[in-house]
Amino acid sequence: MDKEVLEALNDQLNSELYSAYLYLSMAAYFDHMGLSGFSHWMKKQAEEELGHAMKIYGYIYSRGGRVVLKEIKRPPHTWNSVLDVISHALEHEKRVTESIHRLFDLAREKRDRATEVFLHWFIEEQVEEEQVFSEIKQMLEFAGETPQTLLILNSRLAQRK
Ligand SMILES: [Fe+2]
Ligand SMILES: [Fe+2]
Repeated sequence: MDKEVLEALNDQLNSELYSAYLYLSMAAYFDHMGLSGFSHWMKKQAEEELGHAMKIYGYIYSRGGRVVLKEIKRPPHTWNSVLDVISHALEHEKRVTESIHRLFDLAREKRDRATEVFLHWFIEEQVEEEQVFSEIKQMLEFAGETPQTLLILNSRLAQRK
């Protein structure tokens, strides 16, 4: 595999691990606030991100590359409101989308078709990721962050399988 593509895949793996770390930190914040439904949802999200990292891990080895783990940045641990947490998560997902798109462009530039095809799944996944966070954000903005809204959303988010 091209060295630059391999390096970028390792960076993406790190970024997925950071996503898991960030969402786990958000889950911890929600638990601290007594919002166990929000926390449950974020823990599931963290698990998904770990799954994304493992997908890249597997792909690197299937191409004869080597996984090199880097330092994971420390995530924030406190926010101003529930809306603040969700907005942060949405902005984070948008940045991840951009970095996956850059990785895709690099694979194309290096004529690495297999990596292009591998990234299709991630490109689709990012559309979904941005959509779910946008929906929660819109609900909070529409209904306002009242105790009633939070309790309704909290029991809804507790249902995530
Ligand atoms: Fe991800
Ligand atoms: Fe994500």
